[in-house]
Amino acid sequence: MRVILFGTPGVGKGTQAKILAEKYHVVHLSTGDMLRAALEAQTPLGLQAKTYMDKGELVPDAVIIGMIEQVLKSDKAKNGYLLDGFPRTVAQAEALDKILEQTAQKLDRVINLTVLEEEVVRRLSGRITCANCGAIYNKFYQPPKVEGKCDKCGSTDLRQREDDKEETVRRRLKEYHAKTEPVLAYYRAKNLVADVDANKTIEEVTKAIEALTLKRQAEPYSHG
Ligand code: AP5
Repeated sequence: MRVILFGTPGVGKGTQAKILAEKYHVVHLSTGDMLRAALEAQTPLGLQAKTYMDKGELVPDAVIIGMIEQVLKSDKAKNGYLLDGFPRTVAQAEALDKILEQTAQKLDRVINLTVLEEEVVRRLSGRITCANCGAIYNKFYQPPKVEGKCDKCGSTDLRQREDDKEETVRRRLKEYHAKTEPVLAYYRAKNLVADVDANKTIEEVTKAIEALTLKRQAEPYSHG
């Protein structure tokens, strides 16, 4: 399975990627998580990325492509992957095509998750993430069973993301419409996009994605 989970900030890409990666034993590759890990480790890349992330702007293509290329060409990715947050510009999509060509691989699907914009702001204002294992919760929709404690690893280090303030979320949405939405047209032209209504519950969205990705894998591949 080589699938891109696409959509606005807060649509549920990370939530769905974690569920599907565990179920289908494929690797979940999130460029946002990679950048946050680099920042936590105070690497030069992390510190450089922080200046953009704090403002809700995209990190430059060269930084992102260099970072993801290493992983996509490594053994970690050889059995398939779910891409979350990449590609986010047409230049990144073109770079991914080059990597796929070099590794003789093909994409199965681009799942475009769609949600109402006001719902995005609500979801992100309620998001809490476990700093230890990365589990995602939501204080409105999906709180941990014991308040302040991760269900998966027991850590009490549950955090709100710096860039989930309403003002930064609006900026991230603006960046999405200006720079990321054109990537959809790029993949529609290749007949790879399937739209999924992500206003539904987490379980319903998972089922819809599974139906589309598994169905697609059974079909002959077509560039459209
Ligand atoms: P990144 O970390 O990729 O953030 P994002 O794309 O803005 O997406 P999010 O992680 O905010 O949302 P999500 O769709 O994963 O939603 P989630 O599942 O958590 O990027 C952060 C920054 O890094 C960028 O702004 C940029 O600066 C930089 N960056 C990263 N990649 C880059 C790239 N390729 N190029 C350039 N820069 C890059 O869900 C959100 C909340 O909703 C959670 O609380 C969850 O519990 C809840 N939820 C999920 N689904 C549902 C549902 N169906 N019903 C109710 N609640 C739900």
